[in-house]
Amino acid sequence: MEKTVLLTGGAGFIGAHVAVELQQLGYRVILADNLSNSQADVVGRIGRITGVDPKLWDIDVADRTELEGVFAAEQIDAVVHLAGFKAVGESVQQPLSYYRNNLDSTLTLLEVMADYGVKRLIFSSSATVYGADNAVPYTEDMPAGRCTNPYGWTKCMIEQILKDYALATPDFSAICLRYFNPVGAHMSGLIGERPNGIPNNLMPYVTQTAAGIRQELSVFGNDYPTPDGTGMRDYIHVVDLAKGHVAALDYSFAHTGWEAINLGTGKASSVLELVQVFEQVNGVKVPYRIAPRRDGDLAVCYADASKAKKLLNWQTEKTLADMCRDSWNWQKNNADA
Ligand code: UFG
Repeated sequence: MEKTVLLTGGAGFIGAHVAVELQQLGYRVILADNLSNSQADVVGRIGRITGVDPKLWDIDVADRTELEGVFAAEQIDAVVHLAGFKAVGESVQQPLSYYRNNLDSTLTLLEVMADYGVKRLIFSSSATVYGADNAVPYTEDMPAGRCTNPYGWTKCMIEQILKDYALATPDFSAICLRYFNPVGAHMSGLIGERPNGIPNNLMPYVTQTAAGIRQELSVFGNDYPTPDGTGMRDYIHVVDLAKGHVAALDYSFAHTGWEAINLGTGKASSVLELVQVFEQVNGVKVPYRIAPRRDGDLAVCYADASKAKKLLNWQTEKTLADMCRDSWNWQKNNADA
């Protein structure tokens, strides 16, 4: 029977791609999003890709009455919880708003799920929970914590809340997906990342620089202990990432308890490598200069991706060249999005 999945934060960059993959497999998808960092037109864009417009509830997930309205109206079988504030720097400036928003929405969601007997939850976590003390590649059994910013702490705290809740609720399944660095866009060019203002993350900064919106990219540090001196990350194509959610969801229907699972490629690329591949596959220039290191950045961060392969039978398929091509395609198609 067709299953109904609620995506909180479903109108955002990752949510939209998860919605596409789920709908293409016949799931019924409901989006709940207050559009604080996304646009309602994503519904029609998902519709153009899949043939079906998902239903969007324009609500704040932290508002219990509004969220109850969604659960009362829809027969929800599982939730993918992607709603949350996610800007690292902003979280340092506004810690209370980050803790309030990210924790409150999760607690409200869990309470409403309990009231309506919904027992499967996939949570949008982050590699940031590995903090600064673990050695790469990160494995899920490493201790989480010692995060470097409030945003990271909210992910850690929510993982702990889910662990305790799953322990106390024997037939509950909570799966924390620890994303590495999601980039790329849907190959249709219809959905992608729309950062507010000046991008903090590398790929949107690169695409905006290539498009002439930004003058040049600042490469934050070239004196790291890496082959070319620049920071290395595990970039993962958002469509691969979205498929990882589908695999986790399928798994959760026969699972109880708590799991943390890395979603990464298992390989790290440097800033300069990404810039070079971007220029090559797209035939464009990305002017850059070397700038000082950015506070809080690690030299190298990448996943051990073997648990996802073993448990979910999922692994990434797309290359760094795919990521660069699809990101640029999205940027070109949505110059004023
Ligand atoms: N970088 C630059 N110039 C820029 C932006 C980034 O050189 O203008 C470099 C960074 O120093 C880093 C790499 O590009 O080496 C990637 O930086 P991002 O900001 O794109 O990503 P981060 O790895 O810093 O952060 C990401 C997510 C966070 C998450 C974190 C840890 O954005 O949400 O991974 O998992 F917390």
